Amino acid sequence: MKIFYKKTELKKYLSELKKGEKSIGFVPTMGALHKGHLSLIKKAKSKNDVCVVSIFVNPTQFDNKEDLEKYPKTLEDDIKLLQSVNCDVLYAPTADDVYDGNVKSTKFDFDGLEHQMEGKFREGHFDGVGTVVKALFEIVTPNKAYFGKKDFQQLQIIKKLVEKYDIPVKIKPCAIYREKDGLAMSSRNVRLTKEHRKEAPIIYKILKKAKKKFKKKSLQETILWVEKKFSKNKLLELEYFTIADEKTLITSKEKQKGVKYRGFIAVYAGKIRLIDNLRF
Ligand code: PAF
Repeated sequence: MKIFYKKTELKKYLSELKKGEKSIGFVPTMGALHKGHLSLIKKAKSKNDVCVVSIFVNPTQFDNKEDLEKYPKTLEDDIKLLQSVNCDVLYAPTADDVYDGNVKSTKFDFDGLEHQMEGKFREGHFDGVGTVVKALFEIVTPNKAYFGKKDFQQLQIIKKLVEKYDIPVKIKPCAIYREKDGLAMSSRNVRLTKEHRKEAPIIYKILKKAKKKFKKKSLQETILWVEKKFSKNKLLELEYFTIADEKTLITSKEKQKGVKYRGFIAVYAGKIRLIDNLRF
């Protein structure tokens, strides 16, 4: 595996590959790699000539200083994992390299997608994501880029980014990878206390039950049911649960025909914020 810390060197290397008409599959990550990331990398490898992974904990997408400082940084282990799945190229830059010394996010208009759910609770988060993903796409110029559906809102926003800026990359959504007990895989899971880790699979269990309820009950009744379930839980604190149109991410008062719904949830397990979602 080739490792690059500087975009000038990575660009030079990739432009040679592109001359040879090699297709590039790209998996942007913030490191602390787990099986979910590896499934994206395997997909990127099987569908492209070359697989590029980036590991960069992007400061501009964190609205919480402590969350950024405590975000797991495990580059040495990550490199070993990437080698074990025969990843071709790793880009592991500094913030200055990605941002040319000006670590700031650009303001984006994602047609309202950015104001829903995560956007309400994490100020400036999607400006940070949009800025870094656009920069990474410009550096790597991939043919295809792979994103997990766990960050479903992020995925929709990246599709919008690509559409608005006419970026020639195909966005490939990938299924949520779960632990055996149902907890969605996340780099943050390693920070859970034993107690919270044991309790966390309840999130997915409640999502699945809510999906069943939603078949018979109204949207509001289903939301209230979920809120009540969490109000009784001493270890998990619900930040939001909503059922929204998959495309617009907007929630409505009543169920509407022809709309594909998805349940979205954010929960605090102690200090660790976990998100998940499920097609309803
Ligand atoms: O999903 C992530 O890990 C990050 O938000 C991303 C897409 C790598 C941008 O920093």
